[in-house]
Amino acid sequence: MDETEENFDESHVVHRLDAAAETQEELSAEIAAIHEAYNKGVAAGAAEETQPRIDFSPYRSSILRHPTKDPHHADPETIELWSPAFGHRDVHALEADLTIQHNGEPLGERMKVRGRVLDGDGRPVGGQLVEIWQANSAGRYIHKRDQHPAPIDPNFTGVGRCITAEDGSYEFLTIKPGPYPWKNHYNAWRPAHIHFSLFGTDFTQRMITQMYFPGDPLFSLDPIYQSITDQKARDRLVATYDHSVTSHEWATGYNWDIVLTGSNRTWMEEEDAE
Ligand SMILES: [Fe+2]
Repeated sequence: MDETEENFDESHVVHRLDAAAETQEELSAEIAAIHEAYNKGVAAGAAEETQPRIDFSPYRSSILRHPTKDPHHADPETIELWSPAFGHRDVHALEADLTIQHNGEPLGERMKVRGRVLDGDGRPVGGQLVEIWQANSAGRYIHKRDQHPAPIDPNFTGVGRCITAEDGSYEFLTIKPGPYPWKNHYNAWRPAHIHFSLFGTDFTQRMITQMYFPGDPLFSLDPIYQSITDQKARDRLVATYDHSVTSHEWATGYNWDIVLTGSNRTWMEEEDAE
């Protein structure tokens, strides 16, 4: 290679890296083999899994960063046991509306996402800080590491939060996010999703997960979604379209309940997932 700085062609380099990357077919075959082994195990009496595999090789960017040793219990710092504490005075009701944060209307499908936060016995979890972040309708985040050629929407930041009501309910008004490419392998695309964080009563209880939309054609191809080996556990991350939530000439509506503990618990991810 004798590319000097003067004739350095960056697009050429990107192309070369892409050409060397693995194909979707290779990744999909790897996912299928892991799932087949899991399903055989369950059929033979092994316990069903409810959580993602931390060591899931098709999710390439997690290979070097996932834990390789058993978790070691560490006592939280004193301050972590009682802070931060969020209440209705800290979080304004309008922060749950992601469509009014700028001067104009964001582009895309306006939609409501609502549901309830429940514990493993089905009891509502009220007073819970729920935060979301998401790409815009074109699949673009406002983030310096997201530079793929889809438009930024000047009227959409993609972050919101609310506190659950006494009955555990939450509701956001937002724009349906688009799918977006990522660099796990060649031509890798994430299904459309909204990131959720639930804070509990202190830092040590924070949990993070993703909500998906029904019927997404990218489900079977996505190593993050497929790192949950059990189909029933994967299904729990998919919202339900609910026509009674949809409002006339205004917004479509989706329902998604979050279960914090028990065998129906929602999958929660390690920090730093894409
Ligand atoms: Fe994302």
